[in-house]
Amino acid sequence: MIEREEENLMTGKKAETQDFVQFENVLRPKTFNEYIGQSSSKENLKIAIEAAKKRGDGLDHILIHGAPGLGKTTLSQIIANEFGANIRITSGPALEKQGDVASIVSNLEPNDILFIDEIHRLKPVVEEVLYSAMEDFGIDIVLGKGPSARTMRISLPHFTLIGATTKVSMLSAPLRGRFGNVMKLQFYTTDEIKQIIMRSARILGCKVDDDAATLLAKSSREIPRIANRLLKRVRDYADVKNKSLIDIGATREALDAMGIDELGLDSVDREILSVIIEKFKGGPVGLNTISAATSEEQDTIEDIYEPFLIKMGFLERTARGRIATDNAYEHLGLKLQKRIF
Ligand code: ADE
Repeated sequence: MIEREEENLMTGKKAETQDFVQFENVLRPKTFNEYIGQSSSKENLKIAIEAAKKRGDGLDHILIHGAPGLGKTTLSQIIANEFGANIRITSGPALEKQGDVASIVSNLEPNDILFIDEIHRLKPVVEEVLYSAMEDFGIDIVLGKGPSARTMRISLPHFTLIGATTKVSMLSAPLRGRFGNVMKLQFYTTDEIKQIIMRSARILGCKVDDDAATLLAKSSREIPRIANRLLKRVRDYADVKNKSLIDIGATREALDAMGIDELGLDSVDREILSVIIEKFKGGPVGLNTISAATSEEQDTIEDIYEPFLIKMGFLERTARGRIATDNAYEHLGLKLQKRIF
């Protein structure tokens, strides 16, 4: 079980084992009815699907953006399922050459869904092929080289591209403009996360009492993926301690063992704050410096840790760098020092 010990709960790094992928797939809702939360996106999608079905048309291209773990892939699979279409799943970094896109789109059937995760990471040359595929349902392929090279037009069936991204601002304007439907996934309320935990516990066949579910929900940073990972770890803990019911005591002990405190901060959150406070007198300090001092990637800090720390009122982003707030000093039990700015 070394993988589990090393797995980072927030990023899921080192967790992409077969075991973990299967666990997440078992818990993934398959229909809109099973999918909890995101009510406005769900309503939009239901209408778009029903209208397209009624007209016998394909669906418009859809762009889904939002923080990691909010359910972009899950929602895309539900769209395919509810529309009765096949889904092909790939990602921006996996599409290296124009030919990679050409070979995928030329094998699609009418109404198929092509899901491109991390679409902001597409190379510009690859993006260009997508433009005509999305807009005209055709691509130009160059045959041969040099003066004798010819282009050949290939017609494609009407397919739907679903692009997912955590960084919508990094999408080029022409690509963004080709999506008929753009939706932003929101963070979940504690109550929604609690419902997700209860649903997952039912599927996994473990008993979680109400107080335990509330504590787990409050420790999940408003993100279903984290909620499910915490549930799995707490279930393991209860199994080892021969507890048939996951109650608040077992949950608190398991969270303590994972280093998750009463506000849901984990050891990396606290390390980021204590680096800013203890090494840089509370800031301002640049993201690259925090990254070097904590050995966490800049993207991970920016996309996963910072939004939560900012929301909790422990961190501020300024033009000159990151600053730990007075609340951060208090939470870590550190004395407020004279700041250098
Ligand atoms: N599991 C992960 N995300 C979920 C959601 N939004 N609804 C139900 N179960 C989930």
